[in-house]
Amino acid sequence: MTSASARRDGEFACVARNLSVAYRAEPVLRNVDLFVPRGVVMGVVGPNGAGKSTLIKAMLGLVKPLTGRTEFFGLPLARVRQRVGYMPQSATVDWDFPTTVQDVVLMGTYGSLGWLRRPGRAERARAMAAMEQTGIADLASRQIGELSGGQRQRVFLARTLVQSPDLYFMDEPFQGVDAKSQQAIVAVLHALREQGKTVVIVHHDLVTVREYCDHVTLLNQRVVSSGPAAESFTKENIRTAYDVAADDDSFLEFVS
Ligand SMILES: Nc1ncnc2c1ncn2[C@@H]1O[C@H](COP(=O)(O)OP(=O)(O)OP(=O)(O)O)[C@@H](O)[C@H]1O
Ligand SMILES: [Mg+2]
Repeated sequence: MTSASARRDGEFACVARNLSVAYRAEPVLRNVDLFVPRGVVMGVVGPNGAGKSTLIKAMLGLVKPLTGRTEFFGLPLARVRQRVGYMPQSATVDWDFPTTVQDVVLMGTYGSLGWLRRPGRAERARAMAAMEQTGIADLASRQIGELSGGQRQRVFLARTLVQSPDLYFMDEPFQGVDAKSQQAIVAVLHALREQGKTVVIVHHDLVTVREYCDHVTLLNQRVVSSGPAAESFTKENIRTAYDVAADDDSFLEFVS
């Protein structure tokens, strides 16, 4: 390993350089550079259609970028796949499929299981611990089709936790959850940070960005700003990202 990549490995959980994506002719991301330090909660914030979900998908190789590349812990994803977890936006599952909460959460252990190994006692214990952490242990044997939206989000969070990655990507983990569930999820994210894990969340609620996130990337096709919240999440940068008129302050009362 070169000394340069060793330094990167030490400092950043994830580095994306010059990512550009177009779905058809339309570019949706332009020359995005992103540096995610280890041990932070980074919020990716921007208006609908800004390319937030696309950015995460491109970094994870789920969408092929036109240009650019991403490294995780100084390595390509293929080398560190087990260390990277992803919770998609309103995660796609066939809700009518007859399966229990516990089984969905157990899917998170599949990555660490060998070829055709069935989850055993250890995996079940990990799944139960994750369900307790997210407050859904009492729902373990319920059919997933019977759950509310907020309960479903917690199931997906538990499934991501059980994989026990070092770097989490969560696309709008608070979508459709009430204030209490939101607090429960935030507590989990901050506990992960205490353990030295890194969390990247796409987050929509500008009012809670400062409370939830240490670092903020404001995105609108390109990176408007990225860094510690106090430097990045400023009125001026928010105005630029959301295309708000300079004299319209009503939108930004909450930013000091
Ligand atoms: N599979 C796709 N095919 C074509 N266009 C797409 C596809 N996925 C997203 N887009 C377009 O790319 C742009 C960025 O979409 P993306 O989902 O990344 O935005 P977002 O910032 O996550 O928005 P939201 O806040 O609504 O989730 C949008 O204009 C969207 O319509
Ligand atoms: Mg999105």
